[in-house]
This record gives sequence, structure tokens and C-alpha cells, in this order.
Amino acid sequence: MTHQPLLPRPGSGRRAAGVLLAAATLLGAALPASAARAEPATGPDAAAAARTPRYLDPRLPTAERVRDLLGRMTLEEKIGQMTQAERGSVDADPTRIAALNLGSLLSGGGSTPTPNTPAAWADMVDGYQRQALTTRLHIPLLYGVDSVHGHGNLAGATVFPHNIGMGATRDPGLVAEEEHITATETRATGPQWVFAPCVCVTRDERWGRAYESFGENPALVSRMTTAVDGFQGTRRSDLARPDRVLATVKHFAGDGDTTYGTSTTGDYRIDRGVTVTSHRRFDAVDLAPYVTAVQAHHVGSIMPSYSSVQWTDVPGSGPVRMSASKELLTDVLKRKIGFDGFLISDWDAITELPGDFATQVRTSVNAGMDMFMQPYDAPQFEQALSAEVQAGRVPMSRIDDAVSRILRAKFDLGLFEHPYTDRTNIDSVGSSAHRAVARRAVAESQVLLKNDHHALPLAPSQRIYVAGVNADDLGNQAGGWTLTWQGQSGNTAFPGTTILQGIRNAAPNVTYSADAAAPTTGYDVGIVVIGETPYAEGLGDVGVGGHTLELSTTDRANIDRVCSAISTCIVLDVAGRPQIVTGQLPAADAFVMSWLPGSEGDGVADVLFGKRPFTGRLPVTWPRSEAQEPINIGDPQYDPLFPYGFGLTTRGRTTSAQLG
Ligand code: BGC
Repeated sequence: MTHQPLLPRPGSGRRAAGVLLAAATLLGAALPASAARAEPATGPDAAAAARTPRYLDPRLPTAERVRDLLGRMTLEEKIGQMTQAERGSVDADPTRIAALNLGSLLSGGGSTPTPNTPAAWADMVDGYQRQALTTRLHIPLLYGVDSVHGHGNLAGATVFPHNIGMGATRDPGLVAEEEHITATETRATGPQWVFAPCVCVTRDERWGRAYESFGENPALVSRMTTAVDGFQGTRRSDLARPDRVLATVKHFAGDGDTTYGTSTTGDYRIDRGVTVTSHRRFDAVDLAPYVTAVQAHHVGSIMPSYSSVQWTDVPGSGPVRMSASKELLTDVLKRKIGFDGFLISDWDAITELPGDFATQVRTSVNAGMDMFMQPYDAPQFEQALSAEVQAGRVPMSRIDDAVSRILRAKFDLGLFEHPYTDRTNIDSVGSSAHRAVARRAVAESQVLLKNDHHALPLAPSQRIYVAGVNADDLGNQAGGWTLTWQGQSGNTAFPGTTILQGIRNAAPNVTYSADAAAPTTGYDVGIVVIGETPYAEGLGDVGVGGHTLELSTTDRANIDRVCSAISTCIVLDVAGRPQIVTGQLPAADAFVMSWLPGSEGDGVADVLFGKRPFTGRLPVTWPRSEAQEPINIGDPQYDPLFPYGFGLTTRGRTTSAQLG
């Protein structure tokens, strides 16, 4: 797959966006006469203060403000708070936001303002907010976005390595620093909520989302839940700061642990599939990071997975979708683990549940879902839920619980006092200080898997020949969820430094030939950069759209040509998951896994030239063949090419192995 175009989002277009207004009218959601939002009365005027509803008094405890506001709300207003639409479905007529009492909007992957600049983002979100504040109770909107490796939808944002690379750093403090920067860049441009971090445990690298995971070991993923602190801060009061956002751990739970070939949608091989497991193993492998994220980091929201769980220790149990599992959403997550934030369903996820739309809505609300991501069918959702409540099939107590959880987040974020974007940090977007942290993260994430004959580190005086499709391609080194949902190849979409540019910044004598067609004589070192092109979600599953863990013919040819001609040969793999290099490894003196480093190619050069030591370790097991998948640490038969935790470390010209 080269230059992946933006593909339609899963489920998009199932219901037309154009029906929004008509249905809003049907619902009878009236626009308030006065469009102006009054700031809470804070002055000495006692009469005015007496008129101020208690929920607008920031001196009162949040629980009291929630109670007061809830007591004033109609059913339609409550259901509105439980509804999230895609910005694209209201942008043409933003008055729909108020007409539908929408509680939240999101930007799906690639859903950006034009121009795609920090100021245009902030103006866009503020424009939607202005509409939300025209509602009777002036409840502010929560705006969510997928800042999964930086504020990736925004051109010019700092683009960090994807989580798989961050897992390789084994550095939870760095992860927190990354997400603090991401929170700063995101909040300064409008959104106060991110659908990140993914605390998925990837147990099969054929999964198209493996790179969104910190690794295959639940203990490693749990350690990296410091990401939540990076986003949210460590105290509830931090959420109101201009450099923090509400975080979402996703996708609850077992999304990376499904059985190959058991996708429940039919479109994919493994994404949105079925996790076939016992309760005991589920707790140990899939649930563990959520316990830490909730109990140690107080994460504000959780996104249930598209995938299903089928219990092997419950006779006759069939697969149950996470969005429908009362057992897991309410009994385990909310009651047993003690999650007191709110649950946001995944993109159109409830429409994958069995039954008609009313059944899907009812099942999920009653299972414990609090807010519903209904990108293009918000009005139908509101109507369906309203009818279910009125028919007594969804208890009012469940609605009140969901709305209370959502309102609490809005109060904690300070949105009632400061609904509009605080742009204090807007100039820090993509700043050199932020990019310096990303560069360090790239360096720490590089995993050196082979280093014979002291091939690395390189000396700047060496004559270097660089080849390969991923040497000079920012889009490929950033991967999916960068400017568009699927990501895209090429160097024009966002600023950054490719690996080739990083090498050139470190050494004066560099020749580049993408296809290794240029003569190869007269060089001390050859560097071949192989790898994948961008993909996201199930469209990246092995077996879908031609995806495979095998190297492309071009990559193999480039390795053959460069490594047979130049005495010292280094291969770098730029990919979201291990690729099968068993046959090529003997030809290379050194082999480095670079993952998907993002915008800072200089970080790769830093370790190649010994400016920083190699310290990264494998966050996943490296298979000998594709057929070995799934292969994970702790398997009874474990004979990988490189085990989980392996990585060579360099100190000057000394190389030593590490494992763990
Ligand atoms: C993905 C989520 C993402 C959501 C919103 C879904 O397709 O599974 O991870 O947060 O879209 O973009």
C-alpha cells in the first residue's frame, strides 16, 4: 500500500447527516430566545447573586453543582448531554448544536478546519461553544479529538512516536512528559478532551492497531498509564488548567487480544474481533492496565471497545460486545474497580450490536454506557433513547447517573467558568522546546537488535550511502492518525525532519538513492530504511488490503543490493510492528527497529551517531515468521527471532545486551 488515500470512516454514511435538523425539530428542542450567555454573577449585587443558580457558583463543591443542574434539566436536555456528534454533521448549520442540546462534538481522524492552523481550530471550537451556550441552561460543550501521538490532526503540531515506540523507551516519565505537551497543544487550540491513551495490550502483531499499544506485556502497559497524568495532571483541579485535558483510556478491554480471523464485522480479520478467554486470564492480561489507570491515575473517561468477549469458563457463553456488557461496564469497571468517570462509546459502535436501533441504544445504556459517539445520527439516537425512557425500558436513574458523570467532568474542566479556549499556550504548538522532547523520545525508542563489527555508532566523517522507501518520508515515519485517519505518505503535509535529513544534519558526506540505483562504490557505510506505509484500525490488519508482516519486494531488493556492495550495512525498520526479517538479517551488520518515530528524524540520527546511547527494548516479541503469530512472552513454546525485552545498548563503542 503506498500513498493511502483517506478512506471513509467505518459506519460513516449509514445514516445521512442531513437529517439532523429535521429530527431536531421533531424532538421539539426549542432554541432559547436569548442567544447571549450570561457569565456567572460574581459581583456584590446580592439580588443578582440570589438569582444565580447554584450550579453556576464555582465556590460550591462539584457534587452539589451537578445535583442542582441535574434537578433543572428536562429529559431532552439530559439525553442531549449523553450525545456526541461529529463536527462535520453540524458545521453547515451550527444552530443544530443547541437545537439538539448536544453535550459533545468530536473531530474524527482528519476532520479539521480550513485552514488547518492552531487559530482556526480554536476559532472553530469556540464557534461551536457559542452555539451550545445559547441553550436554556448554558451547558458548555465538551470537544474531543484523537491526540494519540501528539495533536496529530493539527498541521504543525509536535508528532511523537506512536505508543509502540514509547513502550520501547521503558520510560513512564517521558510518556507523561509527551502527553503533557500533547495536552498543552490540544487545549490551546480548543479541544478539552482526548481519546487517548490506548492502554490496549497487543497480543498479536497482525492487528492493525498494534502500534497504538505500549506493548504485549500488561505490566509494561500498566506502567505507561502515567500517560493519564500527563494529560490530566495529578489533581482534579489540574483539569481546569490551560495545559491539561480530560483523558480517555481505550478500548476497554481485550481489543488487542482477539483471535485472528474472528472479526465480528466481517470487514477485518482481527480488529473488532472476539477475545476468547477465561475471567482469570482476562483480568491478568486485558484488564490490568485499566485498574491502574482508574485507581492510580483517576482517568476521566473510558472508551469501550468494538470487540467482544467470549468466556471459556462459562459454559455456553457466546461472544458479547463490550458496548453491551453490563457485566464488564457496570459490575466490573464501575462497581468493582471503582471507575467514577464516564464511558464514551466508540464511533458508531452501538450500531454493531444485535437488534434494531432502539434495542442497540437500550442495551448499551442499560449496560452502563454514558455518552454515545453517534457521528452522523445524533437526532435518531436522541429520539430512540427518549422513547426507551418514556416506555420505562431505560430507568431514569441510569440517565441521571450518566448525565451526572458527564457534568462532573465539565465542572472539573472549568468549562462553566471558562467555556472558550484559553489560548495562552497557542504559540507553543510545534515549538522547538516541544520538538526537542519528541526528538529525545525518538532516540530513546530506537531498539538496536544486531550490531556486529562495531557497525554502530557511526562517525560523521564516514562516507554514507542511504537507500530505501522510508528514508525520506515523513508521512511513512508518522503512520496512521496523522492529519488523516489512515495517515498518508509524503513530505508535504506537516513540518518535521525525515530520517535522511537527520542523517544529513549529523554527517556531511551522504548520498541518497531511494531505490539504490545510484552506484554503490566508494562508501564506508550503507543504510537501508525499510518498512510499512501508513494504515489505521482494521484496515491495517494482516490479510486485509494486502497487509502482511513480510517485507516488500522492494525492501528486500534494496537490502540485497546495498548490503552486498558496501562493506558495512545497517538496516532500519520504520514500521508499526515487527516485520519478518529472518532471511535478511545475516546480510546486515546492524539492525535497528525505529517504529513510527513521528516528526523528529533527528532523534534516529542521534543514536546512529552515538550522540545518545541505544537503550530501547522490544515492547513485543519479534517473530521468526508470520505463522508464529500470536507469539508472546510467557508462551510455553517460545522460540522467537528476538524475545520480548531484548535490545542492545551502546556506550561509546561498547555494545551489551539487555533484556526486560
Ligand atoms: C476508533 C477510536 C477513536 C474514534 C474517534 C474509532 O474508529 O476506534 O479509537 O477514538 O474512532 O475517532
